[in-house]
Amino acid sequence: MSDKENGQGMSRRQFLTYTLMGTGAFMAAGILTPMLRFAVDPALKGTGDAGKVEVGKVDDFGPEYKLVKFKVKIKDGWHEEEAEKSAYIRNKDGKILALSPVCKHLGCQVQWNTSKDHPNHFYCPCHNGLYDENGINVPGTPPQAPLDEYEVEVKDGKILLSLTPKPRGGA
Ligand code: FES
Repeated sequence: MSDKENGQGMSRRQFLTYTLMGTGAFMAAGILTPMLRFAVDPALKGTGDAGKVEVGKVDDFGPEYKLVKFKVKIKDGWHEEEAEKSAYIRNKDGKILALSPVCKHLGCQVQWNTSKDHPNHFYCPCHNGLYDENGINVPGTPPQAPLDEYEVEVKDGKILLSLTPKPRGGA
């Protein structure tokens, strides 16, 4: 017996083929669409490090540097991680300065005002690196550039810092 009914319309075989193809295409779209979004979306968003992080009230800081630690979420495409950061912050003469404590020589942690021989300087104990009170490297010591600086914003009496400090011009 033939698949065709009275020689008109479509055969059962054609009907089944079209139905299966339609169902298959529908299911494939349902599966592939979220996968495609997952694969492409993070790349379109780029890095998430355009934000700011709150580190305290303006009134909490005075002319003497304070070391503040904070956590930031850094998102780069598909990769997201929480990183611990720190900054030396002071509020002097109405200007807030936030400096990275990472030495520009080989990355050790600098300390504020701990060297008896160099008061009011940032001192790096690894190779006796020195920076002045504004974080500018002292010529003749290993660091070749000033300490990196965080971008500062004051909002509702609170200090917000950029997630990543930026390099400044050399001494
Ligand atoms: S790492 Fe700081 S002086 Fe070398």
